[in-house]
Amino acid sequence: MKVCVIGTGYVGLTTGLCLAYVGHDVCCFDVDTDKIDSLRHGRPTIYEPGIREMLATVFDRVRFTENASEALHEAQVVFITVGTPPLPDGNPDLRYLREAGEQIGRRLNGYTPVVVNKSTVPVGSGNWIESIVRDSYQAHHGRSPQGNFSVASNPEFLREGSAIHDSLYPDRIVIGGDDGCALHVLEDLYRPITEQSFPSPAFAPRPEGFGAVALVTADLTSAELIKYAANSFLSIKISFANEIGHLAERVGANIKQVMLGVGLDARIGPRFLQAGLGWGGSCFGKDAAALVATAREYGTCMRIVQAAHDVNYNQRALAVDKLQGAVKILKGRTIGILGLAFKPNTDDLRDSPALEIAQRLLDRGAKVRAHDPIALCNAQRLHAEGGIAFCPTAEAVFEDADAVLLATEWQEYADLRWHELGNAMRSRIIVDGRNFLDRKLLTDHGFQYIGLGV
Ligand code: UGA
Repeated sequence: MKVCVIGTGYVGLTTGLCLAYVGHDVCCFDVDTDKIDSLRHGRPTIYEPGIREMLATVFDRVRFTENASEALHEAQVVFITVGTPPLPDGNPDLRYLREAGEQIGRRLNGYTPVVVNKSTVPVGSGNWIESIVRDSYQAHHGRSPQGNFSVASNPEFLREGSAIHDSLYPDRIVIGGDDGCALHVLEDLYRPITEQSFPSPAFAPRPEGFGAVALVTADLTSAELIKYAANSFLSIKISFANEIGHLAERVGANIKQVMLGVGLDARIGPRFLQAGLGWGGSCFGKDAAALVATAREYGTCMRIVQAAHDVNYNQRALAVDKLQGAVKILKGRTIGILGLAFKPNTDDLRDSPALEIAQRLLDRGAKVRAHDPIALCNAQRLHAEGGIAFCPTAEAVFEDADAVLLATEWQEYADLRWHELGNAMRSRIIVDGRNFLDRKLLTDHGFQYIGLGV
């Protein structure tokens, strides 16, 4: 099937490459010529496990262009995967979505594509995109596009750090639309994935026992709401674990043990119950705010989602309080931070707890030294003026530090040489913001170990 993908961010690039991998003819479009140039030379524009290998594997089958006419030419399915960054009032900025809709309308000509929105948009936006494509067509062709296209929603559930795996082996695929023919086209498009009929790549092997993937068909608005409800539910799970963590600390319980016992109930499930610094990234915070804003617009309120949001961002203040409680005076102290990305296996710094905590520490007069195995370059580029001393190695973070905070649970931080690192510090204090390190090992090496909820 001929597929066009508009926008080559995390979702667009991964979707385009994976659809090419399972046999479709894909053209990826982006207005950013640097990105297109880089992709044309086989260089991924994001850090993501397996993406380099995937790009090399499908290189002959996928095209990259900054020319919208070329990208849209005879495409049967057009994915919109542009960014929808948050505006100050919590609503997403839909300007790129509008531009994509206008591009499509201008170039619709004599064929019938399914326009699929994969960007996370406020509930009801499918109709809005349809009207933009329609108006743009009318403006450029002087007549209305009778039956020339239909709009569907196909929310994305991939996680950064495991985007290729999540795209090839999803828990489910959701397609929403009010035109049965368009939904059939999408069923055909996704058949290799729903039936798992493709050979699994060596760099992203199929999990053992992984079988057919459920395809959920819904109306347009329901599909859009599924995305927000899913992300918000995961956010609520994390904040719930953190709130129970507050009580666990007071009564002398251990949140890791508590959530293990809770999560093994099949009705609850063990994932997204890890207490710690809470969520960051480009999705949960933005989507929670957007859901709250949408609810307000429709005359109802999302008290649980709002509470999850509040608990989440309070975890960052809590970490600073813990550091302050341990070193007493923050002014003039040196605090090391291990990990800057919002989670491991990504170079993404958006809404990163580490960066917000670093800023709070700097505001209170502390010096901050920080390291990240992958996101360091991005941090140096984007936060050069911020006052953080970026360290080339994890070991350098410990030099003369009064305390070290683990903010991102990169695997390599589990195996540091604690004894030597402790010797390099002014005082052996570790705040484990992800309850990730081996408490006994650290205390054996003379560290004061402070977790969150443990
Ligand atoms: C999230 C969803 O998991 C995806 O399904 C969705 O497609 C995506 O948002 C999106 O809307 O595009 P992502 O933000 O990439 O994916 O990363 P997650 O793995 O969900 O982690 C989000 C944050 O929650 C991270 O900061 C992580 O450290 C934190 N987290 C996760 C916890 O604090 N505790 C947990 O138990 C799990």
